[in-house]
Amino acid sequence: MIAIVGAGRVGSMLAFLLCQKRLGDIVLVDVVKGLAVGEALDLEHTCSFDVKVRGSHKIEDIKGSRVVAIVAGLARTPGMKDRAELLKTNVGVVREISRKVKELAPEAVVLVITNQVDVTTWVALKETGFPRERVIGMGSLLDSQRFRYFLSQEIKDHSRDVEAMVIGEHGDSMVPLVSRARFRGKPVRELLSKGQIERALERTREAGAKLIGLKGYTNWAPAEAAARMIESIAKDKKETVPASVLLKGEYGMEGVCIGVPVRLGKGGAEKVVELELDKEEMGQLKKSGERVKKEIGKL
Ligand code: NAI
Repeated sequence: MIAIVGAGRVGSMLAFLLCQKRLGDIVLVDVVKGLAVGEALDLEHTCSFDVKVRGSHKIEDIKGSRVVAIVAGLARTPGMKDRAELLKTNVGVVREISRKVKELAPEAVVLVITNQVDVTTWVALKETGFPRERVIGMGSLLDSQRFRYFLSQEIKDHSRDVEAMVIGEHGDSMVPLVSRARFRGKPVRELLSKGQIERALERTREAGAKLIGLKGYTNWAPAEAAARMIESIAKDKKETVPASVLLKGEYGMEGVCIGVPVRLGKGGAEKVVELELDKEEMGQLKKSGERVKKEIGKL
């Protein structure tokens, strides 16, 4: 069973995508009475023969889940400077849910989506006491999808053929790896001008804020990225994607959760993949790590 805690805009969309993927039964939980029950009923009308979807306002219903997605809490609103402003409330929400996960689903892989995600991933890790493999944050995969998209806009071809990754904080200090970005095997630095690359970088960094300014929130792409990660875990696909995990010396850092490439399988983030970064990118990643560490230090 896959549990989704938080049946708001991202959580309900995630539930829909997981229904379509038919990875197993789903339980959707939200503190707002009736919300998750209603969403689940609506969803079951799309897939009732293959997948059971249950809605509840009681966290106890996540009992025995093998994957728990935490997507409850406050989202960024127009005018908010960055995701860090959400932290106080969301740390409390993630803390409370994580304690319940520890008790009710002790074998689960936890996927944290609630922002500020690198910090809330750390909170979930501490509260559950689970090994680092089983507490993962989603953020860098979404940033990577956006980066691929904006590069493809400059190249004027399909984003499917763009290979690009963003690591680091899911926030202003994110680190798009330009040195490794390729289009059909060719380095994008050979295909695009500095100005074009700069524009793609800026759009990637600004994507979240832009969407929030326009529609008030963002849901499709984050839910899609989370669904892809859950699929890799549920099907033991061993896909390598960037995700927030606790570093234990990799990339010269420790004691901080930050986006790095990990291999996702049934055990969660089974391996942290260490890429060879150029000096500038390594410096940016370290700075990004320091920034997240500072936020964690404030808790
Ligand atoms: P939303 O406001 O639509 O939904 C949040 C839901 O959480 C609400 O229905 C609320 O009732 C519920 N909730 C609050 N406390 C709860 C608790 N203790 N137990 C169960 N449910 C609880 O917000 P939205 O847009 O779905 O975003 C959810 C979170 O995901 C936000 O923190 C947002 O910033 C984050 N997010 C993260 C992304 C990422 O890349 N990591 C991307 C997009 C959003």
